[in-house]
Amino acid sequence: MSVMTETAVRQRTALLEVQDVAVHFGGVKAVDGISLEMHPGKIYGVLGPNGSGKSTLLGAMTRLTPLTRGRFVLDGHDYTKAAARKVHHMGIARTFQTVRLLDDRSVRDNILLGQDTLPKERRKEATARVEEVMERVGVREVARMRPDELSYGMQRRVEFARAIIGRPRLLLLDEPTAGMNNTERAEISELMKQLLDEGVTQFIVEHDVQMMVDTCDHLFAMNFGKLIAEGDPREVVRHPDVQEAYLGKGATHA
Ligand SMILES: Nc1ncnc2c1ncn2[C@@H]1O[C@H](COP(=O)(O)OP(=O)(O)OP(=O)(O)O)[C@@H](O)[C@H]1O
Ligand SMILES: [Mg+2]
Repeated sequence: MSVMTETAVRQRTALLEVQDVAVHFGGVKAVDGISLEMHPGKIYGVLGPNGSGKSTLLGAMTRLTPLTRGRFVLDGHDYTKAAARKVHHMGIARTFQTVRLLDDRSVRDNILLGQDTLPKERRKEATARVEEVMERVGVREVARMRPDELSYGMQRRVEFARAIIGRPRLLLLDEPTAGMNNTERAEISELMKQLLDEGVTQFIVEHDVQMMVDTCDHLFAMNFGKLIAEGDPREVVRHPDVQEAYLGKGATHA
């Protein structure tokens, strides 16, 4: 293959391809046939009312939530059947909607758990970065404390640190600023932009529409497990189906 053709192919290759993914829990079609693409070096956002399947989609992408149907391809590699641990090796990390930290370990140790499943070489490198990562997310002063001694906002920062310590290529954030005040939100938003400058593609679930419009390059909107709109953030939030999903029938005419 010539150099030019190879470059052209690479530009067309998405970082992540989600192909007709469905996750059903008995009769509940939490995710019901989602197809989307994410390209490197962008911040993607997901909007959708409660129960629309956002967290389930994120869980399926990391292979923690079993799939009913569909395919996931990261940088050309199909990982649909891979274990969650393998997906982490491949460079996908996440935070959880509900903070999941170990209260009997220090903040520092919790963050180091984010490199536990990585191969040995990368584990070493990640461990060497722990001080820097704590500094970055603003938890260095509380490194020796236990998570349950911290405010909710601080706990979320610890989760954020745990997710980025292994230098993911794709970072999935499930409501990263929930429970934070405006100052803390602005700090997290700034951190996302810094990570983007370092080449970390991001996929964020958030209910804060203004923050999503300000932070994201591209928005997806979900309702009842399906994609109802995607594209330029300002256009997506004005889309009649998105307005209706969020504000109820008739809201677009109000
Ligand atoms: N483990 C599960 N077992 C059964 N049903 C589930 C499970 N997880 C999620 N669901 C259901 O799937 C649907 C989608 O849930 P999900 O948590 O993905 O929504 P969400 O868009 O993240 O909502 P929120 O904004 O409230 O976080 C809901 O009806 C939920 O009750
Ligand atoms: Mg959710």
